[in-house]
Amino acid sequence: MTKILAIESSCDDTSASIVIGGKIINNYIATQSIHEKYGGVVPELASRAHQKNIVPVVDQALRNANITKNELDAIAFTRGPGLLGSLLVGTSFAKGLALALNIPLIEVNHMKAHILSHFIDDPKPSFPFLCLTVSGGHTQLVIIKDHLTMEVVGETQDDAVGEAFDKTAKILGLPYPGGPLIDKYAKTGNQKAYEFPKLKGKDLNFSFSGIKTAFLYFLRDEVKKDPDFIEKNLNDICASVQSTLINILTEKLKLAAKKYKIKQVGIAGGVSANSGLRSRLEEIGKEEGWKTFIPKFEYCTDNAAMIAITAHFMFQKGEFADLSVSPKPRMKI
Ligand code: KG4
Ligand code: ZN
Repeated sequence: MTKILAIESSCDDTSASIVIGGKIINNYIATQSIHEKYGGVVPELASRAHQKNIVPVVDQALRNANITKNELDAIAFTRGPGLLGSLLVGTSFAKGLALALNIPLIEVNHMKAHILSHFIDDPKPSFPFLCLTVSGGHTQLVIIKDHLTMEVVGETQDDAVGEAFDKTAKILGLPYPGGPLIDKYAKTGNQKAYEFPKLKGKDLNFSFSGIKTAFLYFLRDEVKKDPDFIEKNLNDICASVQSTLINILTEKLKLAAKKYKIKQVGIAGGVSANSGLRSRLEEIGKEEGWKTFIPKFEYCTDNAAMIAITAHFMFQKGEFADLSVSPKPRMKI
Protein backbone atom coordinates (compact mmCIF):
# COMPACT_ATOMS: atom_id res chain seq x y z
CA MET A 1 0.00 0.00 0.00
CA THR A 2 1.23 3.45 -0.94
CA LYS A 3 2.63 5.42 1.97
CA ILE A 4 2.83 9.20 1.59
CA LEU A 5 4.08 11.89 3.96
CA ALA A 6 2.30 15.23 3.46
CA ILE A 7 3.44 18.61 4.73
CA GLU A 8 1.39 21.81 5.04
CA SER A 9 3.06 25.16 5.81
CA SER A 10 1.10 27.76 3.81
CA CYS A 11 0.31 30.19 6.60
CA ASP A 12 0.87 29.92 10.36
CA ASP A 13 0.32 26.21 11.08
CA THR A 14 3.00 23.59 10.53
CA SER A 15 1.37 20.24 9.89
CA ALA A 16 2.34 16.71 8.83
CA SER A 17 0.18 13.73 7.99
CA ILE A 18 0.70 10.16 6.84
CA VAL A 19 -1.70 8.55 4.37
CA ILE A 20 -1.46 4.83 3.69
CA GLY A 21 -3.48 3.35 0.83
CA GLY A 22 -5.86 6.33 0.91
CA LYS A 23 -6.46 6.10 4.65
CA ILE A 24 -5.38 9.05 6.81
CA ILE A 25 -3.32 7.66 9.69
CA ASN A 26 -2.66 10.90 11.56
CA ASN A 27 -2.64 14.67 11.33
CA TYR A 28 -0.22 16.62 13.54
CA ILE A 29 -0.47 20.40 13.74
CA ALA A 30 1.87 22.84 15.48
CA THR A 31 0.05 26.16 15.77
CA GLN A 32 1.87 29.46 16.23
CA SER A 33 0.56 31.66 19.03
CA ILE A 34 3.25 34.30 18.46
CA HIS A 35 1.00 36.20 16.00
CA GLU A 36 -1.76 36.90 18.54
CA LYS A 37 -0.03 39.90 20.03
CA TYR A 38 0.46 41.48 16.59
CA GLY A 39 -3.21 41.16 15.61
CA GLY A 40 -2.43 39.13 12.47
CA VAL A 41 0.09 36.73 10.94
CA VAL A 42 3.58 38.25 10.69
CA PRO A 43 5.13 36.48 7.65
CA GLU A 44 8.73 36.60 8.87
CA LEU A 45 7.81 35.15 12.29
CA ALA A 46 5.65 32.49 10.63
CA SER A 47 8.45 31.20 8.43
CA ARG A 48 10.87 31.15 11.36
CA ALA A 49 8.38 29.15 13.46
CA HIS A 50 7.87 26.69 10.55
CA GLN A 51 11.63 26.10 10.46
CA LYS A 52 11.58 25.30 14.15
CA ASN A 53 8.49 23.08 14.02
CA ILE A 54 8.84 21.13 10.79
CA VAL A 55 11.30 18.44 11.89
CA PRO A 56 9.53 17.56 15.18
CA VAL A 57 6.10 17.55 13.50
CA VAL A 58 7.24 15.25 10.67
CA ASP A 59 9.06 13.04 13.16
CA GLN A 60 5.93 12.72 15.27
CA ALA A 61 3.79 11.77 12.26
CA LEU A 62 6.26 9.06 11.15
CA ARG A 63 6.67 7.63 14.65
CA ASN A 64 2.94 7.60 15.31
CA ALA A 65 2.34 5.76 12.01
CA ASN A 66 5.03 3.30 13.04
CA ILE A 67 7.00 3.70 9.82
CA THR A 68 10.45 4.98 8.95
CA LYS A 69 11.13 7.52 6.22
CA ASN A 70 12.71 4.75 4.12
CA GLU A 71 9.31 3.09 3.76
CA LEU A 72 7.71 6.21 2.18
CA ASP A 73 6.63 6.10 -1.47
CA ALA A 74 6.26 9.87 -1.97
CA ILE A 75 6.50 13.25 -0.25
CA ALA A 76 3.72 15.79 -0.73
CA PHE A 77 3.73 19.47 0.15
CA THR A 78 1.62 22.59 -0.24
CA ARG A 79 2.94 24.60 -3.19
CA GLY A 80 0.42 27.44 -2.84
CA PRO A 81 -1.52 29.61 -2.37
CA GLY A 82 -0.07 31.07 0.80
CA LEU A 83 2.73 33.19 2.24
CA LEU A 84 5.95 32.85 0.28
CA GLY A 85 8.26 32.52 3.31
CA SER A 86 5.98 29.91 4.91
CA LEU A 87 5.57 27.91 1.68
CA LEU A 88 9.34 27.96 1.16
CA VAL A 89 9.96 26.05 4.39
CA GLY A 90 7.62 23.18 3.48
CA THR A 91 8.70 23.14 -0.17
CA SER A 92 12.43 23.02 0.60
CA PHE A 93 11.97 20.39 3.28
CA ALA A 94 9.88 18.18 0.98
CA LYS A 95 12.30 18.57 -1.94
CA GLY A 96 15.28 17.72 0.25
CA LEU A 97 13.61 14.64 1.66
CA ALA A 98 12.35 13.39 -1.72
CA LEU A 99 15.81 13.85 -3.20
CA ALA A 100 17.53 12.08 -0.31
CA LEU A 101 15.08 9.16 -0.41
CA ASN A 102 14.92 9.12 -4.20
CA ILE A 103 11.10 9.04 -4.26
CA PRO A 104 8.53 11.18 -6.12
CA LEU A 105 7.50 14.64 -5.00
CA ILE A 106 3.84 15.77 -5.15
CA GLU A 107 2.88 19.48 -5.24
CA VAL A 108 -0.54 20.15 -3.79
CA ASN A 109 -2.84 23.14 -4.24
CA HIS A 110 -3.99 24.23 -0.77
CA MET A 111 -7.49 25.29 -1.91
CA LYS A 112 -8.13 22.04 -3.80
CA ALA A 113 -6.97 20.23 -0.68
CA HIS A 114 -9.48 22.08 1.55
CA ILE A 115 -12.21 20.76 -0.74
CA LEU A 116 -10.81 17.22 -0.90
CA SER A 117 -10.98 16.99 2.91
CA HIS A 118 -14.53 15.80 2.14
CA PHE A 119 -12.98 12.65 0.68
CA ILE A 120 -11.19 11.60 3.88
CA ASP A 121 -14.13 9.98 5.67
CA ASP A 122 -17.52 8.58 4.71
CA PRO A 123 -20.01 9.68 3.55
CA LYS A 124 -18.21 11.17 0.56
CA PRO A 125 -19.83 13.45 -2.03
CA SER A 126 -20.51 12.17 -5.52
CA PHE A 127 -19.76 14.26 -8.62
CA PRO A 128 -20.55 16.93 -9.57
CA PHE A 129 -20.12 18.39 -6.10
CA LEU A 130 -20.55 22.10 -5.34
CA CYS A 131 -18.32 23.47 -2.60
CA LEU A 132 -18.27 26.89 -0.95
CA THR A 133 -14.64 27.36 0.06
CA VAL A 134 -14.24 29.95 2.76
CA SER A 135 -10.95 30.80 4.42
CA GLY A 136 -8.75 33.68 5.55
CA GLY A 137 -7.58 34.31 1.99
CA HIS A 138 -10.35 32.89 -0.23
CA THR A 139 -14.08 32.82 -0.84
CA GLN A 140 -14.95 30.65 -3.81
CA LEU A 141 -17.74 28.61 -5.31
CA VAL A 142 -16.19 25.55 -6.89
CA ILE A 143 -17.66 22.73 -8.97
CA ILE A 144 -15.77 19.49 -8.45
CA LYS A 145 -16.09 17.25 -11.50
CA ASP A 146 -13.77 14.55 -10.25
CA HIS A 147 -11.14 14.43 -7.52
CA LEU A 148 -8.65 16.49 -9.47
CA THR A 149 -10.84 18.45 -11.90
CA MET A 150 -12.37 21.59 -10.44
CA GLU A 151 -13.86 24.79 -11.82
CA VAL A 152 -14.24 28.06 -9.91
CA VAL A 153 -17.65 29.53 -10.84
CA GLY A 154 -17.65 32.45 -8.40
CA GLU A 155 -15.22 34.20 -6.10
CA THR A 156 -14.64 37.30 -4.06
CA GLN A 157 -13.73 40.47 -5.89
CA ASP A 158 -12.05 41.96 -2.84
CA ASP A 159 -11.72 40.62 0.74
CA ALA A 160 -12.18 37.00 1.75
CA VAL A 161 -14.98 36.26 4.22
CA GLY A 162 -12.43 35.09 6.84
CA GLU A 163 -10.82 38.52 6.56
CA ALA A 164 -14.22 40.17 7.04
CA PHE A 165 -14.66 38.12 10.24
CA ASP A 166 -11.13 38.88 11.48
CA LYS A 167 -11.15 42.60 10.64
CA THR A 168 -14.55 43.11 12.23
CA ALA A 169 -13.30 41.28 15.31
CA LYS A 170 -10.31 43.60 15.42
CA ILE A 171 -12.61 46.66 15.39
CA LEU A 172 -14.50 45.03 18.27
CA GLY A 173 -11.22 44.79 20.19
CA LEU A 174 -11.02 40.99 19.96
CA PRO A 175 -7.64 39.23 19.50
CA TYR A 176 -6.50 37.55 16.27
CA PRO A 177 -7.86 35.38 14.74
CA GLY A 178 -11.23 36.87 15.61
CA GLY A 179 -13.45 34.58 13.50
CA PRO A 180 -13.78 31.88 16.15
CA LEU A 181 -14.48 34.53 18.83
CA ILE A 182 -17.26 36.15 16.81
CA ASP A 183 -18.70 32.64 16.50
CA LYS A 184 -18.46 32.15 20.27
CA TYR A 185 -20.12 35.46 21.25
CA ALA A 186 -22.75 35.12 18.50
CA LYS A 187 -24.08 31.95 20.14
CA THR A 188 -25.81 33.93 22.90
CA GLY A 189 -26.65 37.03 20.84
CA ASN A 190 -29.70 38.16 18.87
CA GLN A 191 -28.92 38.04 15.16
CA LYS A 192 -31.75 40.45 14.40
CA ALA A 193 -30.51 43.11 16.84
CA TYR A 194 -28.85 45.18 14.12
CA GLU A 195 -29.59 45.40 10.40
CA PHE A 196 -26.86 45.74 7.80
CA PRO A 197 -27.19 46.24 4.02
CA LYS A 198 -28.59 43.23 2.16
CA LEU A 199 -26.84 41.46 -0.67
CA LYS A 200 -27.27 42.88 -4.17
CA GLY A 201 -26.64 41.23 -7.52
CA LYS A 202 -27.51 37.88 -9.03
CA ASP A 203 -24.07 36.86 -10.21
CA LEU A 204 -21.92 34.34 -8.36
CA ASN A 205 -19.13 36.66 -7.24
CA PHE A 206 -18.78 37.97 -3.71
CA SER A 207 -17.73 41.31 -2.28
CA PHE A 208 -17.05 41.92 1.40
CA SER A 209 -15.32 45.29 1.45
CA GLY A 210 -18.61 47.26 1.43
CA ILE A 211 -20.15 45.31 4.28
CA LYS A 212 -16.94 45.57 6.30
CA THR A 213 -17.07 49.35 5.93
CA ALA A 214 -20.77 49.31 6.92
CA PHE A 215 -19.84 47.46 10.14
CA LEU A 216 -17.05 49.96 10.78
CA TYR A 217 -19.26 53.06 10.32
CA PHE A 218 -22.08 51.55 12.34
CA LEU A 219 -19.76 50.84 15.28
CA ARG A 220 -18.04 54.21 15.01
CA ASP A 221 -21.42 56.03 15.15
CA GLU A 222 -22.75 53.94 18.04
CA VAL A 223 -19.56 54.30 20.08
CA LYS A 224 -19.77 58.08 19.58
CA LYS A 225 -23.21 58.00 21.22
CA ASP A 226 -22.20 55.54 23.94
CA PRO A 227 -18.52 54.69 24.54
CA ASP A 228 -19.53 51.38 26.16
CA PHE A 229 -21.72 50.30 23.22
CA ILE A 230 -19.46 47.42 22.15
CA GLU A 231 -18.93 46.09 25.64
CA LYS A 232 -22.66 46.23 26.46
CA ASN A 233 -23.82 44.63 23.20
CA LEU A 234 -20.96 42.40 22.10
CA ASN A 235 -23.06 39.24 21.75
CA ASP A 236 -25.80 40.94 19.72
CA ILE A 237 -23.23 42.69 17.49
CA CYS A 238 -21.40 39.41 16.83
CA ALA A 239 -24.66 37.55 16.12
CA SER A 240 -25.85 40.26 13.69
CA VAL A 241 -22.49 40.52 11.89
CA GLN A 242 -22.17 36.75 11.62
CA SER A 243 -25.68 36.30 10.33
CA THR A 244 -25.14 39.02 7.70
CA LEU A 245 -21.96 37.34 6.43
CA ILE A 246 -23.55 33.87 6.44
CA ASN A 247 -26.51 35.23 4.53
CA ILE A 248 -24.27 36.59 1.76
CA LEU A 249 -22.48 33.23 1.50
CA THR A 250 -25.56 31.01 1.50
CA GLU A 251 -27.56 33.16 -0.94
CA LYS A 252 -24.77 32.82 -3.52
CA LEU A 253 -24.48 29.13 -2.77
CA LYS A 254 -28.20 28.71 -3.49
CA LEU A 255 -27.86 30.63 -6.77
CA ALA A 256 -24.94 28.44 -7.87
CA ALA A 257 -26.73 25.19 -6.94
CA LYS A 258 -29.77 26.28 -8.96
CA LYS A 259 -27.77 27.48 -11.94
CA TYR A 260 -25.73 24.29 -12.23
CA LYS A 261 -28.48 21.96 -10.94
CA ILE A 262 -26.24 20.39 -8.31
CA LYS A 263 -27.63 18.82 -5.15
CA GLN A 264 -24.40 17.59 -3.54
CA VAL A 265 -23.34 20.71 -1.67
CA GLY A 266 -20.65 21.37 0.93
CA ILE A 267 -18.44 23.91 2.66
CA ALA A 268 -14.69 23.85 3.28
CA GLY A 269 -11.88 26.02 4.65
CA GLY A 270 -11.33 27.78 7.99
CA VAL A 271 -14.68 29.60 8.08
CA SER A 272 -16.52 26.29 7.58
CA ALA A 273 -15.75 25.76 11.30
CA ASN A 274 -18.29 28.52 12.02
CA SER A 275 -21.20 27.00 13.92
CA GLY A 276 -23.72 29.45 12.44
CA LEU A 277 -22.68 28.61 8.88
CA ARG A 278 -22.72 24.89 9.62
CA SER A 279 -26.27 24.91 10.99
CA ARG A 280 -27.53 27.30 8.29
CA LEU A 281 -26.21 24.96 5.61
CA GLU A 282 -28.05 22.03 7.19
CA GLU A 283 -31.30 24.06 7.25
CA ILE A 284 -30.99 25.24 3.66
CA GLY A 285 -30.00 21.74 2.57
CA LYS A 286 -33.30 20.42 3.93
CA GLU A 287 -35.29 23.21 2.24
CA GLU A 288 -33.55 22.75 -1.11
CA GLY A 289 -33.34 18.94 -1.09
CA TRP A 290 -29.51 18.90 -1.05
CA LYS A 291 -27.22 16.30 0.38
CA THR A 292 -24.95 18.49 2.50
CA PHE A 293 -21.31 17.94 3.46
CA ILE A 294 -19.77 19.65 6.46
CA PRO A 295 -16.14 18.85 7.28
CA LYS A 296 -15.03 17.59 10.69
CA PHE A 297 -13.64 20.46 12.80
CA GLU A 298 -10.04 19.22 12.56
CA TYR A 299 -10.24 19.38 8.74
CA CYS A 300 -11.74 22.90 8.52
CA THR A 301 -8.69 24.99 9.36
CA ASP A 302 -5.28 24.34 7.85
CA ASN A 303 -4.04 20.76 8.22
CA ALA A 304 -1.85 18.25 6.40
CA ALA A 305 -4.48 15.50 6.25
CA MET A 306 -6.17 17.36 3.40
CA ILE A 307 -2.81 17.64 1.63
CA ALA A 308 -2.27 13.90 2.16
CA ILE A 309 -5.62 12.84 0.71
CA THR A 310 -5.07 15.09 -2.33
CA ALA A 311 -1.59 13.60 -2.76
CA HIS A 312 -3.12 10.12 -2.64
CA PHE A 313 -5.34 10.92 -5.65
CA MET A 314 -2.43 12.58 -7.46
CA PHE A 315 -0.15 9.60 -6.83
CA GLN A 316 -2.76 7.30 -8.38
CA LYS A 317 -2.72 9.45 -11.52
CA GLY A 318 1.07 9.74 -11.57
CA GLU A 319 0.94 13.52 -11.13
CA PHE A 320 4.41 14.20 -9.78
CA ALA A 321 6.38 17.42 -9.43
CA ASP A 322 9.79 18.20 -10.77
CA LEU A 323 12.58 18.68 -8.22
CA SER A 324 13.03 22.21 -9.56
CA VAL A 325 9.53 23.18 -8.33
CA SER A 326 9.21 26.40 -6.33
CA PRO A 327 6.37 27.81 -4.18
CA LYS A 328 3.50 29.61 -5.89
CA PRO A 329 1.96 32.10 -3.42
CA ARG A 330 -0.92 32.98 -5.79
CA MET A 331 -1.56 29.48 -7.10
CA LYS A 332 -5.04 29.10 -8.66
CA ILE A 333 -7.34 26.09 -8.52
O1 KG4 B 1 -8.36 27.86 6.07
P1 KG4 B 1 -7.75 28.65 7.15
O2 KG4 B 1 -7.32 27.95 8.42
O3 KG4 B 1 -6.49 29.41 6.64
C1 KG4 B 1 -6.43 29.95 5.36
O4 KG4 B 1 -6.15 29.17 4.41
O5 KG4 B 1 -6.74 31.16 5.27
O6 KG4 B 1 -8.78 29.82 7.53
C2 KG4 B 1 -8.53 30.76 8.52
C3 KG4 B 1 -9.74 31.67 8.66
C4 KG4 B 1 -9.49 32.85 9.59
O7 KG4 B 1 -9.98 34.03 8.97
C5 KG4 B 1 -10.35 32.52 10.82
O8 KG4 B 1 -10.82 33.63 11.52
C6 KG4 B 1 -11.48 31.76 10.18
O9 KG4 B 1 -10.86 30.96 9.20
N1 KG4 B 1 -12.22 30.93 11.14
C7 KG4 B 1 -13.49 31.20 11.53
C8 KG4 B 1 -13.82 30.21 12.48
N2 KG4 B 1 -12.74 29.38 12.64
C9 KG4 B 1 -11.77 29.84 11.80
N3 KG4 B 1 -14.34 32.16 11.14
C10 KG4 B 1 -15.56 32.16 11.70
N4 KG4 B 1 -15.97 31.26 12.64
C11 KG4 B 1 -15.13 30.27 13.04
N5 KG4 B 1 -15.55 29.39 13.95
ZN1 ZN C 1 -6.48 27.18 4.39
